[in-house]
Amino acid sequence: MNTIVNGLQWGDEGKGKIVDYLTEDADLVVRGQGGNNAGHTVIVGENKYILHLVPSGILWPDKQNVIGNGVVIDPIGLVQEIVTLEEQGVKIAPGNLLISDRAHVVLPYHCDLDAAQEQARGKFAIGTTRRGIGPAYSDKATRNGVRLADLLDPEMARELVSVRLQDANQFLSSHGMPPHDATTVLTAIEDALKRLRPHVTNTIPPLHDAWRSGKSIVFEGAQGTFLDIDFGTYPFVTSSNTTSGGACTGSGLPPVAIDRVVGVCKAYTTRVGEGAHVTENQEFSDYLHGLGREFGATTGRKRRCGWLDCVLLRFACMVNGVTDLAVTNLDGLDELEEIKICRAYDLDGTEQLFPPAQRDAWERAKPIYESHPGWKSDTSGCRTWDDLPENAQAYLNRLSELAGAPIKYVGIGPDREQTILL
Ligand code: GDP
Ligand code: IMO
Ligand code: MG
Repeated sequence: MNTIVNGLQWGDEGKGKIVDYLTEDADLVVRGQGGNNAGHTVIVGENKYILHLVPSGILWPDKQNVIGNGVVIDPIGLVQEIVTLEEQGVKIAPGNLLISDRAHVVLPYHCDLDAAQEQARGKFAIGTTRRGIGPAYSDKATRNGVRLADLLDPEMARELVSVRLQDANQFLSSHGMPPHDATTVLTAIEDALKRLRPHVTNTIPPLHDAWRSGKSIVFEGAQGTFLDIDFGTYPFVTSSNTTSGGACTGSGLPPVAIDRVVGVCKAYTTRVGEGAHVTENQEFSDYLHGLGREFGATTGRKRRCGWLDCVLLRFACMVNGVTDLAVTNLDGLDELEEIKICRAYDLDGTEQLFPPAQRDAWERAKPIYESHPGWKSDTSGCRTWDDLPENAQAYLNRLSELAGAPIKYVGIGPDREQTILL
């Protein structure tokens, strides 16, 4: 059974926790897009792990993990992450982590370009994670990128980086940033590459062997549907296809290898960074932050919180082909008297069931809410559907109806154990 796990909102839906939960019954976990802009939190008992590039399956012994061709890899960041995980007792070797030689590399100048581009955008800044993601994917698309395979040949790498730096440096200096040179760049990543080299391989044959021999594969999505470069709130998006199609192009496993798509959403809506958020609510944000919840796992920024937006979910279930919903953080609503759900947008007096494409329409869209009574009780100890209060069940049923997909998992706490299977 091969399963894609995707975010249905603006990222941070709890994908890491759901991937970890599904890995128990799987053999392989594969990342196919994004980079270390992602921050996936997994809590196992007393231990908290935050994964950025390493697939969340690494926390289970004896599972294979693959960083696929569609991911952009910051070698220094990846090695730091590996070291941190090793300090936490996680064993990482080629036997449980393979890295695609076709993956593009995020180099130090990509991070500076990210910062310079944000500065140049002025009031249209995206609020990126500054991890060099946009510039690295741009270089891939304009065919100026450097892949891990290229770095195996130091002469080739030097030439590619030197050519790319000619106009990168021009842009950097026009934004008051120091230039880079190929030697310094390549020296900076030398140690990291040495650490990663044994893991780097053509990951496509082992993935196909696993598929053909009936092993179970989980595809770990990063970011969320509305950060997708095609389907998201463009231009306030990331630079990859975060939706289910990205799992195939990012891994080399074809669509016929996929059996199901688990769409992960919070029981409410959050976003970090700039851009539209139709149901954003300051009071609710303050409430969740007061509980110590909803701070970004990568940048520590406060997430902008709001009511459940089912216009987003309806569209996300369509474009991802969601077969099963995983609704997380239901417990975040436990204390509320009244809970709102946005079922449609009012755009200039007409009711819209789907998100608009025009940038300015997002600013004019008003949520059309329906109101639901809260359950005002602690759900964190619930372990079955029947344990959930009636009003929580009704809320989830309405979510499922509006999203157009059945619920299979409900999260009522951050721990591995706090997941209800329907
Ligand atoms: P990801 O990027 O989609 O993997 O999500 P993040 O890890 O960035 O953010 C999700 C946050 O919610 C993390 O702090 C998780 O530990 C936490 N979390 C996930 N599911 C639940 C849940 O059902 N209840 C609670 N209280 N926290 C959850
Ligand atoms: P996970 O996998 C939430 C957001 C950034 C910014 C926009 C573009 O943990 O869900 P980028 O650095 O990608 O160029 O930034 O996308 N963003 C995320 N928001 N979760 C993420 O990943 C994100 N990755 C990027 O905040 O708004
Ligand atoms: Mg996250």
